[in-house]
Formats: sequence, structure tokens, C-alpha cells
Amino acid sequence: MSKPRILVTRRWPAAVEKILSDRFDTTLNADDIAMRGEALSDALGAYDAVLPTVSDRLPAAVFDSVTPRARILGNFGVGYNHIDVDAAKARGIVVTNTPGVLTDCTADIAMLLLLTVARRGGEGERQVRAGEWQGWCPTHMIGTKVTGKTVGIIGFGRIGKAFAQRCHFGFGMDVVFFNRSPVDPTEAARCGARQLPTVEDMLALSDFVSLHCPGGAENRHLMNATRLASMKPGAFLINTARGDVVDEAALIAALKDGVIRGAGLDVYAAEPDVSEALRALENVVLLPHLGSATEETRTAMGMKVVENITAFFEGKEPPDRVA
Ligand code: DGY
Repeated sequence: MSKPRILVTRRWPAAVEKILSDRFDTTLNADDIAMRGEALSDALGAYDAVLPTVSDRLPAAVFDSVTPRARILGNFGVGYNHIDVDAAKARGIVVTNTPGVLTDCTADIAMLLLLTVARRGGEGERQVRAGEWQGWCPTHMIGTKVTGKTVGIIGFGRIGKAFAQRCHFGFGMDVVFFNRSPVDPTEAARCGARQLPTVEDMLALSDFVSLHCPGGAENRHLMNATRLASMKPGAFLINTARGDVVDEAALIAALKDGVIRGAGLDVYAAEPDVSEALRALENVVLLPHLGSATEETRTAMGMKVVENITAFFEGKEPPDRVA
């Protein structure tokens, strides 16, 4: 029997590409450029499986303009709001993701952003590199102490919980969270956190607010101008979830007007474009979507995709099926 034809849209860790190439009739996107529109439609028409990443957008139009040969999309990533899963489902295409393996590394990046923005690490680094540092003095680049402060988490899934543990047990912070469904208080306590009934209750208490909910329609602009204004004066916003969870124009205004004190961002509304207005601000720390960017994690993500598509082509239920 011939091997399934699969397309990998970006370069992956070499060890995973090797397994894919051994196991399947694999095409690698050698130029490593994100795929869009027609190219993705053509891929759905030509391959049995397409393995996209967050950089490849698959809205309904991509599915509508083709009679798909593809039967599975093995997404390299846990977030899949770049794929219109209803459109995929309507065309009989299964979608899988990679949960669990990027939890710690993404929580680490949220912690790094929290510490960097609170302690002005980005500004300090820029100052030293520019040769502008005038030496130690008691009033130089004063930041905010983290220990004893309250952090509010929106979305208490795997990453939210791992971040709570870091904040509470590692940095002595009080942790509260908002989650759409109730979380067992024992489980919350295990993470050093307690659930609050509304986002507003959480915002009113939090010196830091960190987003760990999915992107897409249900959470689009969850942090809008009103919610930003109801954060505590001097509070900070951290986003390692998805750019569309925050109204970026409202965030820029809030940062400029001192409504909030700072932000640490790893994700943006129109990645990889980051607005000039945001880049011009000193009170933000900006990372290029590094949440899962470690050797170990990217390899584990790739192996999860291998596991999912192997199960699928063996006629079994893929372990991480989302649609
Ligand atoms: C994820 O896994 O969702 C990361 O953000 C990369 O897509």
C-alpha cells in the first residue's frame, strides 16, 4: 500500500522531519515561508494530510475553494484558532493539536514577561547596550516588587495552572483566577490559587493580569477598553495566549495614558506585524511568539503530530482530535 502523502508547511526539528519522512511520503516546505490562501487550498487538494502551524491561516475560504484530498490537519501547536474547524469538519477533515507538551515552557515565558516588565529589564538592557548607563544610583530605573503582589489569571487550563504555581510557590504572589467553568477548589489550592466569579472581580484585585485562554471568536477583545480601565491603577497586563484576546488599539491608548503601567506581550493581533505605536512604547516588553520555543518542546510538539497522524492513518482515533 502506498504511503500517505503529507505536507509539512514549515521546517520542523530535524529529528521529527526524519521520522515523518521515514513513515510517510513527506514534502517539506523547504523555503520555510508561511503559507496562505490559494497555496493552502492547493495543498488540501493534493495531500492526504497537511501539517500547519499558527503562521498558516486556514479560514473557511481556504476549504471552500477546493475538493479536498486531505483527511486530516495535524496542527503543530495547541492553539488552533487560525483554522476554521467548522469549515474543516464540514469537508470531513479531522483536526488535531498538541496539548500538554508546551505547558511549562509557555508558563515560563509568561513569568519572564511578568518579571521583565515589572523590573524594567527590557529598558535596562536597551540602556546598557546603547552605552547610556550612567552608573548605579538609588533612583535609577525603579521597578515594581513582585513578591506579595496579586496576579490574576484569565483561563485556568494547563498553562494557567502552571503559571499560577510559578507565581505562588516560586515568587510568593497571591493568585486569583477567572475561568468560564468552575474549577475544583482543591485543584485550585494545589496550584496556590482561588477562583473568582467574574473577570471584573479579578481585575479589581490584580496587580498583574495574565491571559491564558484560547483565541478566536469566544474571547476576541476580552480585554477591551472598559476592562483595561477597570484594572488597578499601576497594574500590568501579560499576554502569551493570542493577540486577538486584547483590543490592541485600546491597549496602546491605556499604556500611553497611564491607565495601566505596562504590558508584556508574546502574541499580537496581526503577527508578525507589530504596530509601530506599540514598538515605540518603553513600558512594554515585546517578544516574538516564543512561548513554546525550546528545543525540547518543539521536538515534543512534532512528535505529538506524528502520533496523531500515525493513529489516524492506522484507522485509530487520534489522541488529540479537536474536530
Ligand atoms: C501554540 O502551540 O498554540 C503556540 O502558540 C504556537 O502555535
